[in-house]
Amino acid sequence: MSTVVLPGSFDPFTLGHLDLTRRAAALGHRVIIAVSHNPSKKGLLDLEARTASITGTLVQEDLSGTVEVRTLPQGLLVDFCREVGAQAVVRGLRSQLDLAYEEPMARMNHHLADVDTVFLLTDSAWSHISSSLVREVHALGGDVSDMLPGPSLDALRTAAAVS
Ligand code: PNS
Repeated sequence: MSTVVLPGSFDPFTLGHLDLTRRAAALGHRVIIAVSHNPSKKGLLDLEARTASITGTLVQEDLSGTVEVRTLPQGLLVDFCREVGAQAVVRGLRSQLDLAYEEPMARMNHHLADVDTVFLLTDSAWSHISSSLVREVHALGGDVSDMLPGPSLDALRTAAAVS
């Protein structure tokens, strides 16, 4: 079984992320979801809340046997891949815009350490969903309950209540 890393901010972890996780695992991979610190991003959920909500989601979805959650240490993603014995990075593509963002990172990771990136096309059911739009819609009073797994929704409501 090969190991792949699914990195991201996951602020919050959406149903699109969950679909990607499920599909990567269904390809026969051990999947490590690597939650980044993203100090430069103005987010909502802290690292602990993001990690806990993903762990809760994996348990709920019966994925905790093949998928694990780790914090992505500050530093290079390829170093983390080496540390956990991962052969590749998995990322989702919703559109050409995503590809434009992903391509230089994928090329750089390959240049640095021969780490390949496997792209999965986001299912059209989720291709309009991004964590940033979910945060915005939620902050403006919109309903995001059909875009998030339960534990992410709970984390979002808790964070919004205390902020
Ligand atoms: O979900 P995001 O915020 O788009 O995820 C971005 C992430 C975590 C994949 C990206 O920031 C990343 O790979 N960070 C690790 C830093 C790194 O290795 N940079 C140099 C090579 S591109």
